[in-house]
Amino acid sequence: MNPLLEARGICKSYYKNKIELPVLRGVDVAFQHGEVSALVGRSGSGKSTLMHLLATLDQPDAGEVWFGGQRVDNLSRRQRDEYRNRQIGIIFQFYHLLPELSALENVLTPAMISRSVLGYCRDRKALTLRAEAMLDRVGLLDRKTHKPAEMSGGEMQRVAIARSLMSEPELLLADEPTGNLDTETGESILQLLRQLNTEDDLTIVMITHDETIAERADRCYRMQDGLLVDRFTVEPAEETFTPRARVVA
Ligand SMILES: Nc1ncnc2c1ncn2[C@@H]1O[C@H](COP(=O)(O)OP(=O)(O)OP(=O)(O)O)[C@@H](O)[C@H]1O
Ligand SMILES: [Mg+2]
Repeated sequence: MNPLLEARGICKSYYKNKIELPVLRGVDVAFQHGEVSALVGRSGSGKSTLMHLLATLDQPDAGEVWFGGQRVDNLSRRQRDEYRNRQIGIIFQFYHLLPELSALENVLTPAMISRSVLGYCRDRKALTLRAEAMLDRVGLLDRKTHKPAEMSGGEMQRVAIARSLMSEPELLLADEPTGNLDTETGESILQLLRQLNTEDDLTIVMITHDETIAERADRCYRMQDGLLVDRFTVEPAEETFTPRARVVA
């Protein structure tokens, strides 16, 4: 079966003051429909960088990203926005909730962004019902009027999950979905993600520092030497690579 999401030969460096910091050095990876995959690797190894490239939030220096049999990294900005809004849900490492908005309004933001003002006003009632259903799904309907500062970390993470589901995505990219949470709250988020995977057939790629969480995924990849290796086929080895800056001639 064709993979749902695929990275082919992805290279990415950051540049600062003419100094090159090579982070990804030819990443090849394929995520299959219906699987939960985990990406592990030490801090600074390039996991969030890869996730941003898979989400077309940034562009690789070399290589390609394919989704559902279509190349997406080279689409126009508008088409990439559409791909992101329609096909994938994203949970960012630090939630990225808007502090001035309530939980319900935060869940509604993707629907607002992807519509004209008129279109949003026209669909508002149905969208609000849907956003409430999403909040209910993550067990937070009774917090719908709370702003982020009036919620716990786990609750904010749940709001971020509800928001990521608004567009009924096929794929969820989750950057450290349990990273800022205590073990018990993290466990409930993990169970929620697994439930979304089994009940909604949602394909999930999650980044995590936590090896015990990674072990619960169907497949686990490790960022190593700027590459991604499948832990089921390659013995986990000591991490040897931390991106090191080099001066560009
Ligand atoms: N915009 C940027 N400009 C320059 N360097 C950057 C930029 N963004 C990230 N980096 C560097 O790239 C490397 C990879 O960063 P990235 O955020 O992908 O790591 P990570 O694996 O997600 O780490 P963590 O587990 O701490 O979240 C880091 O060494 C970081 O300092
Ligand atoms: Mg990160």
